[in-house]
Amino acid sequence: MNVTFLLNGEAVEVDTPPTQTLLDWLRETRGLTGTKEGCNEGDCGACSVMITDERGARSLNACILFMPQLHGKAVRTVEGIAAPDGTLHPVQQAMIDNHGSQCGFCTPGFVVSMATAHLNGRTDHDDVLAGNLCRCTGYAPIIRAAITSQSAPVPDHMHDAPAPLHLGQKTQIPVPETSDELANWYMSHPDATLIAGATDVGLWVTKNFADLGDVAFLNRCTDLQQIDDAGDSLRIGAAVTMTDVLAAVRDLHPSYAEMIRRYGSDQVRNAATIGGNIANGSPIGDNPPALIAMGATLHLRRGDTCRDMPIEDFFVEYGKQDRQAGEFVEGVSIPKSAPSLRCYKLSKRFDQDISAVCGCFNITVAKGKITNARIAFGGMAGTPKRAALSEAALIGRPWSFETIDAACEKLPEDFQPMSDMRASAAYRMDAAQGQLRRYFDDISGVETDVLGVNA
Ligand SMILES: Cc1cc2nc3c(=O)[nH]c(=O)nc-3n(C[C@H](O)[C@H](O)[C@H](O)COP(=O)(O)OP(=O)(O)OC[C@H]3O[C@@H](n4cnc5c(N)ncnc54)[C@H](O)[C@@H]3O)c2cc1C
Ligand code: FES
Ligand code: FES
Repeated sequence: MNVTFLLNGEAVEVDTPPTQTLLDWLRETRGLTGTKEGCNEGDCGACSVMITDERGARSLNACILFMPQLHGKAVRTVEGIAAPDGTLHPVQQAMIDNHGSQCGFCTPGFVVSMATAHLNGRTDHDDVLAGNLCRCTGYAPIIRAAITSQSAPVPDHMHDAPAPLHLGQKTQIPVPETSDELANWYMSHPDATLIAGATDVGLWVTKNFADLGDVAFLNRCTDLQQIDDAGDSLRIGAAVTMTDVLAAVRDLHPSYAEMIRRYGSDQVRNAATIGGNIANGSPIGDNPPALIAMGATLHLRRGDTCRDMPIEDFFVEYGKQDRQAGEFVEGVSIPKSAPSLRCYKLSKRFDQDISAVCGCFNITVAKGKITNARIAFGGMAGTPKRAALSEAALIGRPWSFETIDAACEKLPEDFQPMSDMRASAAYRMDAAQGQLRRYFDDISGVETDVLGVNA
């Protein structure tokens, strides 16, 4: 099965099993051992590589990136960061000058992330590097290196061709170019696994050693990567990455955007798609509660048949979604206006962590009375779920702390959360009630964000 791409400027054609990871291929087949294996699950950034396609250059984790996801793209590893004549890249020189490396294990990953950010003119170094972990140097010298190199010119060799056309030839691995192609193929392979960003599926392979059987990759399905302005709503294609969702909703829905900014890390957001985050039905995915609170519509497709549903109806029970064999998520439509929407993600670590409780609230008040309420939680049940009884306790009541308190009292009837390694059931319930009370303060103009963060 041939996959073709550019590797540090050189065209390569690789005969690969579909679920071979780029990290394994680089290290074991190609002998490029600069890219390190730390966690092998997308958490540490030691395996960061720069991938360039039509949408530009981004840093991704090679440990959960399957070879077919590279088809027609350009890959730059740490070995390709210095100029061909050996001159160090400005971020490499700055790492030396600022003593940014001790044992050096994390350093290649940091250098690739920093060089990608440098190419893109990014100076939000904390965000850029939240997915690169260092356990001995400490972050201050590394951030200093990023700051001191940020205004240096970009070396010429870093400008990879976005998508070399001659590399776009067909592979035998299903990498459909359109949703029509995907729909046809999936109808005849209904048991296959669809792979979008592979930030879930990658771990099935690297951690569970799963044999996935038939697979199809969505990363070249360009019509699933579109965001369409459809009047009062935005229709977001299933294969849009969280990085692109973040850019699209930053001004429209700042609270939702801030939650996405804390989704995994830059590398994870550059791979993970909104469709994957919905389709996996996880009770702790960050998008579903926000989309439910907004009143989003889910678009599904099976062959030529399309259907729409309120997104909350998709999540039937733990591990079960309203999706038939051969049916896939085509996209989701969200309203462009939801000024009362607030999203609160509570996790053990601020960045690069999955929610323990994620509460999303969207309550409409007219003339002092609550006319509509949409409240959804992640982490409180086997699915992302609306708080139906708490909502009912709000509708028609005055917008007051007493009303909110009464709705909080209903939350234990809506949810019986479980205890796990992230949080106990009692803590989850306390946190959910606290988030609803915080929402009241936020909307009423009481300062709650004392740390200056949307924690
Ligand atoms: C380090 C790390 C940090 C993470 N942090 C977060 C976080 O902060 N918040 C959070 O919510 N999640 C987080 N995740 C989980 C993960 O990113 C999400 O579940 C992700 O959205 C999955 O999307 P994907 O495109 O990578 O899906 P994939 O892994 O490609 O697929 C996931 C599932 O969805 C199916 N699928 C994908 N696309 C479609 C489609 N269009 N139609 C039908 N089925 C489809 C696949 O077959 C598979 O069953 C993290 C993961 C990692 C590894
Ligand atoms: S090895 Fe840790 S993110 Fe890839
Ligand atoms: S220098 Fe040792 S882990 Fe970062």
